[in-house]
Amino acid sequence: MSTVEIAPGVHWVGAIDWNIRNFHGYSTHRGTTYNAFLIMDEKVVLVDTVKHPFFYEMLGRIKEIVDPEKIDYIISNHVEMDHSGSLPMMLKAAPRAELVTSEKFGEAGLRKHFGFDRPMLTVKEGSSLDIGKRKLVFVPTPMLHWPDSMVTYSPHDELLFSSDAFGQHLATSERFDDEVDPAVVMQEAAKYYANILMPFAHLIPGALKKLGGLSIKIIAPDHGVIWRADPGKIISAYSEWSAGKTRKKAVIVFDTMWHSTAKMASAIADGLFSKGVEVKLYNLTASDKSDIMTHVLDAAAVIVGSPTLNNGMFPSVAEFLCYMKGLKPKGKIGAAFGSYGWNGGAAKAIAQELQQTGIEIVEPELAFKWVPTESELAECAAFGRRIADKIKG
Ligand code: FEO
Repeated sequence: MSTVEIAPGVHWVGAIDWNIRNFHGYSTHRGTTYNAFLIMDEKVVLVDTVKHPFFYEMLGRIKEIVDPEKIDYIISNHVEMDHSGSLPMMLKAAPRAELVTSEKFGEAGLRKHFGFDRPMLTVKEGSSLDIGKRKLVFVPTPMLHWPDSMVTYSPHDELLFSSDAFGQHLATSERFDDEVDPAVVMQEAAKYYANILMPFAHLIPGALKKLGGLSIKIIAPDHGVIWRADPGKIISAYSEWSAGKTRKKAVIVFDTMWHSTAKMASAIADGLFSKGVEVKLYNLTASDKSDIMTHVLDAAAVIVGSPTLNNGMFPSVAEFLCYMKGLKPKGKIGAAFGSYGWNGGAAKAIAQELQQTGIEIVEPELAFKWVPTESELAECAAFGRRIADKIKG
């Protein structure tokens, strides 16, 4: 697959990782891309690189356009190794190139990752770099999602190189949003936000405000397709997601031993649905935690269940709760349920975890012994209906 000119003189030279299915614990069912961009101006600039195993794929694309030795600057918007892993080899191929990175943690991060002892050009808020007819502007976006994170803006092209922000883990032969099913692009963008950026939601309005002052025709993230048809669409989505906007929707997450907790989950779902609430039901044995979090993103309620095992919850449920706690979902209500044999414990432990995650518990935990009876299942449905009433306010 060849390079793609995304604006006159600006070329995509990244790599496509069709087969990655686990990105540090995040399921990537559709693969991903590592986007890197070459700007051909009086100075030749490479914006970001690719994950280490894809170095030669990127180098081949760069060579279609220019001798890599002619590269003057390599901008590292973000130290994480999916974008910086090729830097050591790239600097050998481009020995004259000066590394450009954020003053805050960028330089320190690159030195600690790769042992670089070469001088670097460090940039901060308001810094710019003259490369000919273009003057590149750097905008730090600390903790979105690492302390070093920054974006690079080219006013000449009205183009934002947005690093991880606005990205999607989506491997495609096409490079632009308008060439791919928009529902797929938005679903992957939501999954990316929910699993990478959600913990930093409070910082996003400030970052969007800074970017709102820029005239942007194209957003080129480091993963997935480039937004050219309607960059405002993904900016609006980030604005809504970071504001914690929810729908009349509940996510039920559970595991089960002898099907008792599963029966309770179904009855709770029936109760919610009977009151007009959209329900998503996930058995953790068959579902992936990063997919579930994509649905938690806009859900008003998260309801979690487990059988009691050794006086506590199932390890699969504990793993999910640990993952969700780290992602810090905001503005949600929740409840816990489960089954037990002789001693309970799981539902109570879940309720405590949900509270510690910042989820408001709106119903006392519901737990039944052995196999739930018809009347106990009716109580589960009533539990679901009461939560539906709270969702609907
Ligand atoms: Fe795509 Fe934070 O790296």
